Amino acid sequence: MIDGIDYGPLEVLVGQWQGDKGTDISPEPDGQEDTPYFETIDFEAAGDVTNGGKQTLAIVRYHQVVSKKAGGQVFHDEIGYWTWDSSTDVIAHSLTIPRAVCVLAGGVCAPVEGAVTLNVEAREGDKDWGIIQSPFMRDNAKTIAFKHRITVDGDNLDYFETMVLDIYGKIFDHTDSNSLTRVS
Ligand code: HEM
Repeated sequence: MIDGIDYGPLEVLVGQWQGDKGTDISPEPDGQEDTPYFETIDFEAAGDVTNGGKQTLAIVRYHQVVSKKAGGQVFHDEIGYWTWDSSTDVIAHSLTIPRAVCVLAGGVCAPVEGAVTLNVEAREGDKDWGIIQSPFMRDNAKTIAFKHRITVDGDNLDYFETMVLDIYGKIFDHTDSNSLTRVS
């Protein structure tokens, strides 16, 4: 409970997290690029919302800023929400990145004691959990699928995410992973 609102399995996310053990694997025309990175993710408890007069979602809002270890340049910026429906335990992860790609990924997670693992997935064209992208991205660098797993154990957070891309004439698993520590 935070300020009288039950965030269920999302409560463990709330805080500021930092980590410098990230690895990005992204596509290049002639192969792939592996980039070590550091990042900060701010997760904030953002209250709740009622939909259709009968669904109530607890909301956690976040902002992720990712920088290259070599040189410190920010090379990924992402904002979004995680929501939890206490009546079904459905979690939804909505995100947008400034390449003009938006994802609404879903999964199920009940509140648990100890370490919490959140698993969500989306697929382009899926009727439930989908991906929206600009015409340019659809035609040149299409995101076909998205999978994200976060595990929080106390003040440690690990994540692994895969974006399956159709780019440069091949299907490529663009992946990111990091281990972070809660700093506030
Ligand atoms: C920690 C998170 C992430 C990092 C560090 C990251 C980093 C990168 C990098 C370095 C590239 C290659 C850019 C280039 O060739 O100029 C790339 C490409 C791409 N990323 Fe990510 N990315 C992340 C997450 C995501 C997410 C969540 C999505 C979508 C849901 C996404 C979608 C794409 C797409 C569609 C491309 C292909 C664009 C292109 O190379 O022309 N990425 N990303």
